[in-house]
Amino acid sequence: MRRQVLLFLSTLSLCTVHGQVSYSIPEEMSKGSLVGNIAQDLGLDLKRLKTGKARLHVGNGAEYIELNKERGLLIIREKTDREALCKQTSPCALQFQIILENPIEFYRVTVEITDINDNAPIFKMNSMLFEISESAVRGTQFVLEKALDTDVGGNGLKSYSLYPTDNFVLKFNVNAEGEKEVEMVLEKPLDREKQEHLTLTLTAFDGGEPQLSGTVKIHVTVLDANDNAPVFTQSTYKASLMENTPKGTSLMTVMATDVDQGAYGLITYSLSSNTEGILDLFEIHGASGEVRLIGKVDYETSKHYQLNVKARDTGGLHDSCKIQFDIIDVNDNVPIIDLMSTSQSIPENSAIQTVVAVMNVHDADSDNNGVVTCFLSENVPLIIENASNGFYSIVTNSELDRERFSEYNITVSCSDEGVPSLSSSVTLTLQISDVNDNAPVFERSSYEAYIIENNTPGLSVFTVKARDADWNQNARVSYILEDSSVNGVPVSSYVSVSADSGVIHAVRSFDYEQFKDFHFRVKVQDGGSPPLSSNVIVKILIQDQNDNPPQVLYPVQTGGSLVAEMVPRSADVGYLVTKVVAVDVDSGQNAWLSYKLQKATDRALFEVGSQNGEIRTIRQVTDKDAVKQRLSVIVEDNGQPSRSATVVVNVAVADSFPEVLSEFTDFTHDKEYNDNLTFYLVLALAVVSFLFITCVVVIISVKIYRWRQSRVLYHSNLPVIPYYPPRYSDTLGTGTLQHVYNYEVCRTTDSRKSDCKISGAGSQNVLIMDPSATGTMQRIQSEKSILDEPDSPLEVS
Ligand SMILES: *[C@@H]1O[C@H](CO)[C@@H](O)[C@H](O)[C@H]1NC(C)=O
Repeated sequence: MRRQVLLFLSTLSLCTVHGQVSYSIPEEMSKGSLVGNIAQDLGLDLKRLKTGKARLHVGNGAEYIELNKERGLLIIREKTDREALCKQTSPCALQFQIILENPIEFYRVTVEITDINDNAPIFKMNSMLFEISESAVRGTQFVLEKALDTDVGGNGLKSYSLYPTDNFVLKFNVNAEGEKEVEMVLEKPLDREKQEHLTLTLTAFDGGEPQLSGTVKIHVTVLDANDNAPVFTQSTYKASLMENTPKGTSLMTVMATDVDQGAYGLITYSLSSNTEGILDLFEIHGASGEVRLIGKVDYETSKHYQLNVKARDTGGLHDSCKIQFDIIDVNDNVPIIDLMSTSQSIPENSAIQTVVAVMNVHDADSDNNGVVTCFLSENVPLIIENASNGFYSIVTNSELDRERFSEYNITVSCSDEGVPSLSSSVTLTLQISDVNDNAPVFERSSYEAYIIENNTPGLSVFTVKARDADWNQNARVSYILEDSSVNGVPVSSYVSVSADSGVIHAVRSFDYEQFKDFHFRVKVQDGGSPPLSSNVIVKILIQDQNDNPPQVLYPVQTGGSLVAEMVPRSADVGYLVTKVVAVDVDSGQNAWLSYKLQKATDRALFEVGSQNGEIRTIRQVTDKDAVKQRLSVIVEDNGQPSRSATVVVNVAVADSFPEVLSEFTDFTHDKEYNDNLTFYLVLALAVVSFLFITCVVVIISVKIYRWRQSRVLYHSNLPVIPYYPPRYSDTLGTGTLQHVYNYEVCRTTDSRKSDCKISGAGSQNVLIMDPSATGTMQRIQSEKSILDEPDSPLEVS
């Protein structure tokens, strides 16, 4: 409709102009479409057109329009495209002429082709690609390619839009040549790590009705920048580690991440430490972050290790973290015993609780691994006492005795409480030194020694020996003779003791007949300070030697005296003529006497009792027998060699004294004795009696004296009794005689009427004497009992 309006307006205006008409049609009209009624518009008759052979003259242009002569119309011969015809030229018009012949006339026709919005804006490229670093700053501009719209005027390109607008905005700019440009301006920085690729849509709009648009994709690739440092997953890593962990053990792996790409995201790990030496123990694998042990960790050196780890990317950004290793103790240290002070030796009298050693024990491990207990070897009189802080002392806990144990090997063992436990030990030797606590002791509680009389002075008799359990000087013994007296004489004049050897020497020669034994004390003393001593009684028994011959007491042998025993002629067989009495001051065998008839006037008449010395008749005396009988009796002791004495006994065989006298006149004559025989005979009897009494008195006095002495000293038999009875018995095997012997000493006048009183009681211990020279002496065998009992009655009748 608008086309038509224009047509009419132009037609009207062209009517005034000769030979010229204009039309306006929109482009893209279909073939056959009416452009205008040219005949009418030019005022030409259709006939004229025919006759004038009207035709269109286009020149060299294409014929888009044709003339319909019959109807006088201009119609579209070919579709027109304004953009093709005129490009961007505006206005766009087709100019041609209508030529008529007969007459020739021509008219100019102008057909303006108006634009219709038949083209959308288009972009030459399918897409636009940008690579923008994420480090690009805000305001950075990126020139975009423009869109094209072949339409002109209002149908041409009008505006753009960009979507999304998160990071970029559009900006229009006029460049130096005055061209309009479309720019994309970075409004918000990019982050590759958030979004690596962006796609935007740029839309171009035209101004047509309806509006057309064209789009293009803008692909933005965000380039990485090293804008991210590596970051450790933990700021502190902790791990525990046994101290005996072998070298090369992988302990842990640390990790850092870097969100950057490529080289900027490549992390290298390294270790550092403020503490020297740690880097010799640990290493880290630069790429993997694996931490390994390369040395030996020792709990006792360090309980904790701290390492710094740095992670660095290629761009030089870095992060660091810490690794803390706690070392776990392992029982790898034995207790160490440090003997601070020890005694080599202590005296045996040391008090209980005497300190022998002080020591310190420590174990470098910790907790139970370092808890130590110590103990001593058994069977030592010592205990270990724990002071504090690992100090121990070894003290005695019982009394010591060097004589039992002079040395102790003390083993101290200490072990910790680790599992398994470690232990160590040390041995020390303790000597127990001697103290003089033992007195010397004689080997026997008493000693008895025998010595044969008549010894040589200086003879070694005997050895006493004492022992001392102590040691060395404390055990060095010396022997000392203790002062005492024997029979009033200092004992040192009898014996001496060798101080060193204990040998006892006789100082003098002993006489058994003087004393038979004596005793004394020997003291032994050690060399300690103060010395200890003990003593022992030594009894010396003197042994008899046969050094005394028998002594004949009766008949008394006085030179020239005339003593005879009377035997009546009526005497029977076995008549006791007399008795030879002899003693031997020796003892034992040496004093055992035997009697033998050595010579006799008539051997067939008399015999001598070999044991008792009794001279008896062995046949009836006859008248033929001589008055004078002379017998020689030998008395022998039993010693080795034996000693003997000989006695001559005169026997008168007669019934009366005068007969004897007459006979003995010859007898005396034979003996060259003078006439006053009788006087001498009487005198002899008196002398015998006197001697006998004297002897008895002497014996009693001596016995009393010795009894007194025996209170002080054990008795010694002084052989002062001149008439010891012969202790002899065939039947006795021992020297102890049980028999009681009765002896008669009778007057020679009449033995049959003897006044001898025979004591019947053997236990009465009585000595009976006849003062009228006719003595009957009776003696109880045990002479000792008489002597020992001072209250024994001594009766004189
Ligand atoms: C102590 O040990 C030493 C050396 O081993 C040894 O000669 C000695 O007999 C020992 N003493 C005791 C009392 O065991």
